[in-house]
Amino acid sequence: MSTPSAGKFGSRIGFILAAAGSAIGLGNIWRFPYTAGESGGGAFVLAYLLFVVLIGVPVLMAELSLGRKSGSNAVGAFRAIVPDSAWRYVGGLGVLTGFGILAFYSVVAGWTLSYAWDAAMGTFADGMSVEASGKHFGEVTSGTTGPVVFAGAFLVLTALVVRGGVSGGIERASKILMPVFFVVLIILVGRSLTLDGAGKGLEFLFSPDFSKLTPLVLMNALGQALFSLSLGMGAMITYGGYLKKDENLPIAGISVAIFDTLIAILAGLIIFPALFTVGAEPKGGPGLVFVVLPTIFDKLPAGQFFSVAFYSLLGIAALTSTISLLEVVVAYFVGERKWPRERAVWVVTAGIFLLAIPSALSMGAVEALSENAETGAKSFLDWQSIIWGNIALSVGAAGIAIFVGYKWGAKAALEEMRTMPLAGAWENLIKYVCPLAIVAVLVYLVATGNWL
Ligand code: TRP
Repeated sequence: MSTPSAGKFGSRIGFILAAAGSAIGLGNIWRFPYTAGESGGGAFVLAYLLFVVLIGVPVLMAELSLGRKSGSNAVGAFRAIVPDSAWRYVGGLGVLTGFGILAFYSVVAGWTLSYAWDAAMGTFADGMSVEASGKHFGEVTSGTTGPVVFAGAFLVLTALVVRGGVSGGIERASKILMPVFFVVLIILVGRSLTLDGAGKGLEFLFSPDFSKLTPLVLMNALGQALFSLSLGMGAMITYGGYLKKDENLPIAGISVAIFDTLIAILAGLIIFPALFTVGAEPKGGPGLVFVVLPTIFDKLPAGQFFSVAFYSLLGIAALTSTISLLEVVVAYFVGERKWPRERAVWVVTAGIFLLAIPSALSMGAVEALSENAETGAKSFLDWQSIIWGNIALSVGAAGIAIFVGYKWGAKAALEEMRTMPLAGAWENLIKYVCPLAIVAVLVYLVATGNWL
């Protein structure tokens, strides 16, 4: 298989960039900082890093090897190993989860489009106070048409790329734009670390206060580790299926995990120094990044240029993630239900758009769907992130770990990986640590009733 066919990635670097493109997105830049802020900082960050190493990397390897072995979609991969068993429902849950995640993710991706437009218009060029920036965020997100239209536009963009197949769209876009995004982030980190609040920001992120490790914080850290690496719902199974047989899976997987985690930490290094400099609250919720960043663009030379670059590239990073989410659902309908690709793309996109509407309207447009400071009620969007991003991914990841560890068999998976370093450790992690730790976090959370 030396010439790349339409369904395969053309090169290893192409695959790494596409898988990293899936992993790197709003999860790193938007979800990580606000979850860290809500979860009290250091202890959460440490738990997140531990979960990346002990659960994320092993499950990533399990998904990639299962995907390449079967060359199939999230459901078909289970069927290829054990035909006609209930295991396929683990894949089925993944397809549903992809649908659910994309429906709220596209709303936030829509906000980045609005912000890119505003940046181009010079809105952030003169710098903004936190108050003005917060007000701007409220205006962007609480409308009844804007957020819905932008989420819809983002979904259409995603659908157009997914319709084009793997190598054409996904690979070419990721190859050029991810490295550019990385450079812009480094420049922003440089600026942030020289602000007055840098010390406080670093302390918040890296000095753990273990009394803050509540069941909810552990759940947030586990969910974030899985979410950020695109695990627990079959995205990496599906991408693994597009990977050629002679590729080195461990190198691909570990590179993706390192890039992804690095970018999340960089985002933290941008946001928290700026946050403490301007005196904003870490518990800013889903608006955190959008409110804090516009306060520092004028502190950069060519601030307007950087604000445009940042929001456009964030939008593109989000696009390489939404592509992988939509691809999981579409690959299921094409592979299992035998739908033509074109029909699968548009029917699925329309369905996701319908579920995106209540999330888009939950930032103030419709009171019943929005957060309520008095009752402590969370917004519809927050709930979607908790249900799909934390709970469903955790259940899915445990299912995948058990399936690969016991049903397909750790030895068979290792054979597919060929040169896995620390193979024995991986086997123990996938068979014992992953399922037990995930179930323990879920049980702990439910048993203590610590949901909110
Ligand atoms: N990991 C992506 C991010 O951090 C989001 C994402 C893409 C995802 N595909 C996924 C999350 C599959 C969970 C599962 O932005």
